[in-house]
Amino acid sequence: MADNVILIIDDDRGLRVSLSAFLEKKGYSTLTAATAQEGLEIIENNTVDLVLLDIRMPGMDGITALKKIKEINSDLNVIIITGYGSIETAVEAMKEGAVDYVTKPFNLKELSSKIETSLKIKYMVIKNKLDEREEEGRESFSNLIGKSKQMQEVYELIAKIARKDVTVLILGESGVGKEMVAKAIHQNSQRKDGPFIKVNCAALPDQLLESELFGYEKGAFTGASRQKKGMFELADGGTIFLDEIGDMSLATQAKILRVLQEHEFQRLGGEETIRVNVRVLAATNIDIQQAIERGKFREDLYYRLNVVRINMPPLRERPEDIPLLTNEFIKEYNQKHNKEINGVAPDAMRLLMSYDWPGNVRELKNICEQAVVLNDSNVITAADLPVEIRGKGFNLDANQSNQSLKDITKNLTSEIERKIITETLEETGWNRNETAQKLGITPRTLYNKIKEYKIER
Ligand SMILES: Nc1ncnc2c1ncn2[C@@H]1O[C@H](COP(=O)(O)OP(=O)(O)OP(=O)(O)O)[C@@H](O)[C@H]1O
Ligand SMILES: [Mg+2]
Repeated sequence: MADNVILIIDDDRGLRVSLSAFLEKKGYSTLTAATAQEGLEIIENNTVDLVLLDIRMPGMDGITALKKIKEINSDLNVIIITGYGSIETAVEAMKEGAVDYVTKPFNLKELSSKIETSLKIKYMVIKNKLDEREEEGRESFSNLIGKSKQMQEVYELIAKIARKDVTVLILGESGVGKEMVAKAIHQNSQRKDGPFIKVNCAALPDQLLESELFGYEKGAFTGASRQKKGMFELADGGTIFLDEIGDMSLATQAKILRVLQEHEFQRLGGEETIRVNVRVLAATNIDIQQAIERGKFREDLYYRLNVVRINMPPLRERPEDIPLLTNEFIKEYNQKHNKEINGVAPDAMRLLMSYDWPGNVRELKNICEQAVVLNDSNVITAADLPVEIRGKGFNLDANQSNQSLKDITKNLTSEIERKIITETLEETGWNRNETAQKLGITPRTLYNKIKEYKIER
């Protein structure tokens, strides 16, 4: 982390000297200022990557200085140094765009980890930034969001193969964006003006799936009162997206294989051979290799589909995409729910970034919606997040030596948790299962919380 310049603005000379020595030893360059005014001048005339700003100073106070810093350079990250117990000031500072805070007397280990994170992630607090999508670097492709190395590779692959008219197999856990990738391929292909037809192969029983895919003739089976075109016919000239192909029966797999090989098929109960010009994209979240070994998936079909394979990385392997995705989802849900949420507090963002996301982007999206709906202020805080996410993060912060701050946070969290649970219970007419589901916790956890907080009807 060398070459980053940190400006320390604090009226306490001893603190300036020792902090600057400590940071220089860590490989940072430092500048110091004894007053806010002096600090602002330095910011105007130098490249500064991060500011450590004391709140209580003679002359111009920290909050005013913070506002001015943001006027000079809204992207400059500021960590606030506050006195013990003034958590309200810290929250206020965060609303003004500070990226994090430490309380005096502070723990150097905690401070340096906060510095490191703030330098790494400049998206942590997104106050008033939601409307300006930054365009530098490739942060999105079609509607896909994310600028991690893994996602960049996905974009490159899509760009490379979209116009090639080859079959693509998209693999990845649930909620990673397989369907979005399929759409992006279609939209960037020569077929983009043709239809994009999605078939969920897991949702339908065998017979029904085949009639959906291939259509049927009048009288093909009881209830077939007229001819119906199937998805392959409807997708003619465009793309068909076979979702959850891992769940298809072997019989249906054989028929699909034939379409891939010969580009033709018959409607159910029909004689006529129908030829179509369709590009096939397929996706699954099961381990297809294992399905082949178990005789549940045809190897020849696998090779036909697997001309190009895209492996979608799980969200937990690209946490740097989380702030970007969160920004975008909050923006979307602000609109949907008529809210004006400005950003995510650093604590909450740290929790989001350290959670392991078994449901991947879909889960993050749901949690963002829930947080936007529940939130009453302008900033999403840890209290707006479901317990399973908060649980993880507190372990992460367990090495914080500042016991009193921890207690304050804990009490605050419990209070808010109690409030959310009570409100949700009232909303659902005290339906515990529904409440648990809404809050993303198990009924058992809910039961324990009701007892712990002594919530009564
Ligand atoms: N990179 C991304 N950028 C923006 N939104 C995304 C991204 N990835 C996923 N999403 C959103 O997450 C949700 C799940 O995505 P999608 O349906 O494409 O996932 P999937 O891999 O097909 O999941 P499943 O296996 O459960 O069908 C959608 O609402 C989608 O809009
Ligand atoms: Mg899907």
